[in-house]
Amino acid sequence: EKGGYDHFMLKEIYEQPQVIRDTFRGRLLSDQGLIKMAGIEDNLAKFINAKRIIIVACGTSWHAAQVAEYMIEEFARIPVEVEYASEFRYRNPIIHTDDVVLAISQSGETADTLAAIKLAKEKGAFVFGVCNVVGSSISRETHAGAYTHAGPEIGVASTKAFTTQITVLALIALRLAKAKGTMSQPDYLRNLIELELIPEKVQEALLENDRILEIAHIYKDAANCLFLGRGFNFPVALEGALKLKEISYIHAEGYPAAEMKHGPIALIDENMPVIVIAPQQNHYDKVVSNIQEIKARSGKIIALVSKGDQQVRNLADHIIEMPHSTEALTSIIATIPLQLLSYHVAVLRGTNVDQPRNLAKSVTVE
Ligand code: F6R
Repeated sequence: EKGGYDHFMLKEIYEQPQVIRDTFRGRLLSDQGLIKMAGIEDNLAKFINAKRIIIVACGTSWHAAQVAEYMIEEFARIPVEVEYASEFRYRNPIIHTDDVVLAISQSGETADTLAAIKLAKEKGAFVFGVCNVVGSSISRETHAGAYTHAGPEIGVASTKAFTTQITVLALIALRLAKAKGTMSQPDYLRNLIELELIPEKVQEALLENDRILEIAHIYKDAANCLFLGRGFNFPVALEGALKLKEISYIHAEGYPAAEMKHGPIALIDENMPVIVIAPQQNHYDKVVSNIQEIKARSGKIIALVSKGDQQVRNLADHIIEMPHSTEALTSIIATIPLQLLSYHVAVLRGTNVDQPRNLAKSVTVE
């Protein structure tokens, strides 16, 4: 059942090229320049007339929501707010009838997310779901939706659900951009083509596994760990930290790289591994200066870099290479090495990777 892998988590990490492809199959028609998703087409007016989109989710799905915020705002220029479902439901939120509420959930059973949806419906909002489990409570409770096609996710730590969520959310953001005319046609087409290439790039990212295992050996006894990223990769840093805490029980925090100097920098010494997501994109130079700041304080730097990068290679203690993509879609690729790193660290520490202590796969109580 684990398909020859030691754990479901590893199997699910390796399934990502396939399930990402499954998720955009029939929806992404890059040769025609089209994105077809029935749930979006049928409700297009609601989306394009929305004053804002509120995304509700928990945990890893909330991290996908953060990536979606950046994508929808950048591509479609619709204001987006991301809310923890548990906070949203209890704070008498302002919801208008022309708001679109997007709920993201792998299981489709998360109690807080379900309650947030019911509240949004009571207040007259249109609610759209992004779920993995077909026929789940959330998929039934929402007005419309789009499934991820990750297949069953057994490992408690979410992996393939996250990257397929980003895939669906990228499709939605691009479809809305096209409808709103907020993106140039060449940019739009380039994103479609890049999205289609993601499965093979994820495959390529998986080839760094041996190097990541070596790094895991070096840092498996760390007490703390910091994850930094900017822009689309800031939520990826949060997700990297969550994965490490969940399965290895190492205390980890994710931060937007520039926030480091507002506090967390005080933690940096020779015992602090810092994982920095540093692809050669918009924020590259700024991330390079963040890396220099860590180095000046003897922090250990594990950098995720674009293939062929030289500058960061010369500064970092370890580098993990990833293929180039658009800035937005690099969020999917950068997730892969972080999943593998937490997996290997957890295995080396002897924890129960597929069923970490105190956690349940679907949180049906608040
Ligand atoms: C993290 C993890 C949890 C879930 C969260 C939401 O690895 O699995 O944080 O992401 O409980 O679950 P869903 O997406 O099923 O609503």
